[in-house]
Amino acid sequence: MSNVAPLRAGGPGQLPPGCEVGEHSLGTGRYIDPAFARLERDKLWLKVWQMAARLDEIPAPGDYTTYDIIDQSVMVVRVDANTIKAYHNFCPHRGTALSSGCGHFERERIICPFHGWRWDLKGQIQFVLERQEFCGGKLQDADIALREVRSEVFAGFVFINFDRNAQPFADFIAPVKQRIEDLGLGLMHHYWWKSLKVPSNWKVAQEAFHEAYHLPATHPQLDAAGREVIYGDRKDAPWGHLNVSYETFANGHGRFYGGARTPMQGYTPPEQEGDPVEKMIRRLELLVTGLDAMVLPEDLETAKALRGRKIPAGSNLGAEYVKLLYERAAMQKRPMPEPKPENFAQWGGEVFVFPNLLLLPNAGNLMFYRVRPDGLDPDRCIFEIFSTRTYAPTDPFERAVVQPMTDGLDPKQFNLIPRQDVSNIPRIQRGLHSSGMKKVWLASYNESVIMNMHQELDRYLRA
Ligand code: FES
Ligand SMILES: [Fe+2]
Repeated sequence: MSNVAPLRAGGPGQLPPGCEVGEHSLGTGRYIDPAFARLERDKLWLKVWQMAARLDEIPAPGDYTTYDIIDQSVMVVRVDANTIKAYHNFCPHRGTALSSGCGHFERERIICPFHGWRWDLKGQIQFVLERQEFCGGKLQDADIALREVRSEVFAGFVFINFDRNAQPFADFIAPVKQRIEDLGLGLMHHYWWKSLKVPSNWKVAQEAFHEAYHLPATHPQLDAAGREVIYGDRKDAPWGHLNVSYETFANGHGRFYGGARTPMQGYTPPEQEGDPVEKMIRRLELLVTGLDAMVLPEDLETAKALRGRKIPAGSNLGAEYVKLLYERAAMQKRPMPEPKPENFAQWGGEVFVFPNLLLLPNAGNLMFYRVRPDGLDPDRCIFEIFSTRTYAPTDPFERAVVQPMTDGLDPKQFNLIPRQDVSNIPRIQRGLHSSGMKKVWLASYNESVIMNMHQELDRYLRA
């Protein structure tokens, strides 16, 4: 393995020292080395399909939103009801970024704020002041059209890729496509969306959400028995994290899921005392107050309607709860994913789309996370939580606009569960910088989604 000068990518196949993926471990350089971050910029972010926007950010023709990744910027524009275009965000005259944040191009005209050059929404030049002065009067329209970035719309997302030669999006998404489509993510619309700058590597922040192994220590309220082992004197427990299964897919994608053992299906830890309906309500309450996503207040009301209700022979509490959720949605004329067991099994779990999109579906709603580097500094990232849900046709949803948050530990800004997760992240990054720390050990099953992600990352970096 040869050395790689800081801020310069190595030759094919090379990684900076201390950045290797071992059989059971990861070199800490992957999280802290500026040379590795630079390699990721050149070989991953400029080459991979990545989620640049949700369609709800640009609901009307002329709407735009800006996606920034490290030192690159992309303007995503809705041209008409069926057409989305993504452009490199620069003015062909002297480089001014044509958009920042989100907004609307009045009269469908994209106008550079510096000297007023103007394009239509399809990127064709409409106006150049003193045009005869450029190229001896021979300036070609094609030379100054906006430069398009490859884009694809899927499940309500706009994915982009900077690389003209990248694999087709259909091949990239294929291992998880059906699963995502079945979950009806395209039916979900904006509820809330928050972003937070976090002092950690983007992978550190993301990997806090790739396993349930952290549940008993980080979220002890969600695993009462596990809490007694970790923080008390108990010797063993019916661990909550053991209710979770993991699966890894080609192209770096993965998932975890609870199967039958999720609160959505009436599951409650075996050792809790009391009436099963009350236990389920208590469990759902923890998610409503802990997240305001995944389980919504009205889902909790639905669960309460199960009090005193007789469970018909051949059914069970979970099935009755799901039945009520679907009945309520039908009454509200709210679309829902097809009620099939594979969907129920995925509710409360996560589908991970490489390299940085984490989908957490539930009954008629979807929370998702996106984590990306904040510039080239390996110690900084932008972490976003999006909460989306289905709406009745008579209940118009609002345009999605991000709310920038400033403090991941402030109860006014984040609910308990994300606060617990975010409280670990800077501590992990600090520990990774320790000169005594050379590698991270990964559990072969409980942390398999993380390992699979790193193996795919290496395929990009070594290409
Ligand atoms: S830089 Fe855009 S018109 Fe001059
Ligand atoms: Fe967590």
